[in-house]
Amino acid sequence: MKYTSKPRTYRVKSFGCQMNVYDGERMAELLAAQGITPVPEGEDADLVVLNTCHIREKATEKVYSDIGRLVKAGEEAGRKPMIAVAGCVAQAEGEEIMARAPAVGMVVGPQAYHRLPEMLDRAVKGQRSTDTDMPEDAKFAALPKRRKVAPTAFLTVQEGCDKFCTYCVVPYTRGAEISRPFNDLVEEAAKLVEAGAREITLLGQNVNAWSGEDAKGRAIGLDGLIRELAKLPDLARLRYTTSHPNDVTDGLIAAHGEVDKLMPYLHLPVQSGSDRVLKAMNRSHTAESYLKLLERFREARPDIALSGDFIVGFPGETDAEFEETLSLVDAVGYAQAFSFKYSARPGTPAASMDGHVAKEVMDERLQRLQAALNRDQLAFNQASVGKTCEVLVERKGKLAGQWLGKSPWLQSVFFEGDAAIGDIVRVELAEAGPNSLAGRVLERVSA
Ligand code: 5AD
Ligand code: SF4
Repeated sequence: MKYTSKPRTYRVKSFGCQMNVYDGERMAELLAAQGITPVPEGEDADLVVLNTCHIREKATEKVYSDIGRLVKAGEEAGRKPMIAVAGCVAQAEGEEIMARAPAVGMVVGPQAYHRLPEMLDRAVKGQRSTDTDMPEDAKFAALPKRRKVAPTAFLTVQEGCDKFCTYCVVPYTRGAEISRPFNDLVEEAAKLVEAGAREITLLGQNVNAWSGEDAKGRAIGLDGLIRELAKLPDLARLRYTTSHPNDVTDGLIAAHGEVDKLMPYLHLPVQSGSDRVLKAMNRSHTAESYLKLLERFREARPDIALSGDFIVGFPGETDAEFEETLSLVDAVGYAQAFSFKYSARPGTPAASMDGHVAKEVMDERLQRLQAALNRDQLAFNQASVGKTCEVLVERKGKLAGQWLGKSPWLQSVFFEGDAAIGDIVRVELAEAGPNSLAGRVLERVSA
């Protein structure tokens, strides 16, 4: 396939986790810096970047069907879109994509997308290229600076994973754990705040494994980084995700009680309530050690909202073991959680384990688990009714005069009253649903 001119418009379609959203935004900035402009959702773009996710089911098939759809839409419109496949499917199956999908001009892995502009130059000349190298940390230095950002921003501080949970592809697609240097992060955070961010979520596959040296050369962990970033005067809120129970430190727990800007929310995946399953998953914690950790977070910050990830139907999981997961859910009372059916990922140890669980059994377990999690989420939301809370205003709602923002506990709050995007307002909460709260503004806390 041959392109004769540089694309004028682009669209980046990101799937999967927040890390991918961050990467998607960075790719968009790289393309914008090349003078290419974004097209709104639904319109055709000259260049489409499919920023893929490989963590669960059917990711690869989805990529091929997306490519097929783009080619067909292009044919109908009498044009040939330039297609780039990025993200974790690109990393895992780059060569195969190139071989199977001639419409794809570029395949770029999550550690190599800073080289997208050069790949684009080659693509314009009709040369297809694949880049799935994993150079340490190079991409962050090569990224253009961000000019204007939303009130809530992501900042990738750590990437990769050394944990090798037996079901998971991340250690293979994102590579070994690396921490970005302290100075770079402080600088990037300051720039984000200058560009309008009031809340920053620190991202990493194992964000609490972040380690570095502060300005004085002292070894610090994520809590040290949080304490430093909290000093930025115009930054109002800090969050971090996703954490691993084994990398939780005393300092991180203490930070929740001591750093006002650190929001009372913790996403700490557990995956299962059965110690046998946890062992087979290579999780290196037990149900009890996990519950003890949560207790310590609650001691430091009694109102902390807890969140987690669960997998049902891991190979060999029995009914009784699944019941242990339900008991753990009852014991915790999660404010929010994510739950998935086990999906065999090629090349992972669990994929070749015995005792794969039938689809119907998985369906039924997922339904029961989600019913329990939804019940707890609604109860958590209902407990806020009649109280007030601070909300960071993110955008206008769908109804006239309506605003949307997040509570400190990461609940979506719809409200009416005097507000502007980026404000923090005090809202009186009048109603609770399973996924959101509703109320009205009492006062502006800070603009
Ligand atoms: N099957 C199902 N769920 C998975 N996750 C990761 N790998 C798999 C898999 N093979 C889930 C875990 C993890 C979240 C990001 O995705 O719960 O915490
Ligand atoms: Fe995957 Fe486990 Fe690493 Fe999380 S900790 S990214 S589930 S291997």
